[in-house]
Amino acid sequence: MDRLAIQGGTPLSGEVRISGAKNAALPILCASLLTADTLTLSNVPRLHDVTTAIKLLEQIGVRISTRSSGADTTIELSGRDVENLVAPYEMVKTMRAAILVLGPMLARFGEASVSLPGGCAIGLRPVDLHIRGLQAMGAEIAIEHGYIHARAKRLRGARIVMDLVSVTGTENLMMAATLADGVTLIENAAREPEVVDLAKCLIAMGAKISGAGSDAVHIVGVANLHGASYRIMPDRIESGTFLVAAAATGGAVTLVNTRSGMLDAVLDKLLDAGAKIESGEDWIRLRKNGPLRAVNLRTAPYPAFPTDMQAQFMALNCMAAGTAIMTETIFENRFMHVQELRRLGADIEVEGNTAVIKGVAQLDGARVMATDLRASASLVIAGLMANGETTIDRIYHLDRGYEHIEDKLSQLGANIRRVH
Ligand code: EPZ
Repeated sequence: MDRLAIQGGTPLSGEVRISGAKNAALPILCASLLTADTLTLSNVPRLHDVTTAIKLLEQIGVRISTRSSGADTTIELSGRDVENLVAPYEMVKTMRAAILVLGPMLARFGEASVSLPGGCAIGLRPVDLHIRGLQAMGAEIAIEHGYIHARAKRLRGARIVMDLVSVTGTENLMMAATLADGVTLIENAAREPEVVDLAKCLIAMGAKISGAGSDAVHIVGVANLHGASYRIMPDRIESGTFLVAAAATGGAVTLVNTRSGMLDAVLDKLLDAGAKIESGEDWIRLRKNGPLRAVNLRTAPYPAFPTDMQAQFMALNCMAAGTAIMTETIFENRFMHVQELRRLGADIEVEGNTAVIKGVAQLDGARVMATDLRASASLVIAGLMANGETTIDRIYHLDRGYEHIEDKLSQLGANIRRVH
């Protein structure tokens, strides 16, 4: 298994190009199931999860061709020959976002069999809200032998109030509603920018959607959707991760091919920590501006501080001046990085879903293990801050959500290499 070896202590500096957003690309790839025409996507990130999604869609019958020119990858998907309406366990267990084929398959073909995604390191991750929403739209759903078997002659529009804010729950139901008979209103909807990106792509395909980005999304069903060309939005979590890495190592980094205005809660916390930030339409520049201060935060649905940035920010707090209190409200087990950060010398106490981090003068390199995607990013940042060498095992977690992170960090001056 690959691992990363990092010699810490070098401030990051220079320019890094942000890739397309994983959490926008995954639902948008699944939207190809909604039409017999061709959907052409650009700025698709080269990630393990994207490869998994492509394999699943090909197994279902979507014809896919990929073209890479330099840093940009364009993918053409045609849902004309879809016939195998099954998402098998072996695919779904490696990537929970595979649940996003359920809504589109049911909406266009009237049936779908999708394996229940297992839990994952960060939590139980149920999909009850997806199922309840589809049932509200008239789907008959039976759960047998670990599979969701769904049927519906034709879905009908419904008013759906989500018990919890769910990103992929909102996305699955929004996609299903585009072809339903009548009007659907999704209330207590997720407002994440990736939900808006999916809505924009669906609208380009002929869907009638309004309110995406607010907590009430209104969809008028149409008979069918047509093909479109769409460019995936920049990845705001990759953007946030590099900004935190720049602040943590005391550097000066400019992100390009990104977008300001999609991670304001993260930028606000970086300013509180003492960083200096400037931004334009598609770039963000961060410079460390004196010693970092400890920053309290509490994760919550967009536009509040994203749970996907909690682990990265904890690494920053490990060497900041003072004590930070960090509360994780979205997932029940998203502190797996704490044990590993402690191995590097961090002073962290966990009480339920709250962590108290006392800043220490120095972290010391050690051998650590990645447990989930964003915990791995946290360990990379801590390794960049630590004295001496840090090696990180099980970095397949990292490859799911970051495109060649060690290459991008090396270009910024980090002393990091992948060891096979
Ligand atoms: C999406 O996951 C993201 N994944 C996650 O990013 C992100 O952490 C999460 O949203 C929260 O922002 C993708 O977009 C592919 P949720 P999702 O449904 O949709 C509970 C990463 O690192 N819930 O918004 O699965 C759930 O247990 C990944 O890129 C139910 O109870 O998350 C959680 O406590 C990790 N029943 C809360 O809601 C349901 O039916 C929010 O989950 C659905 C969710």
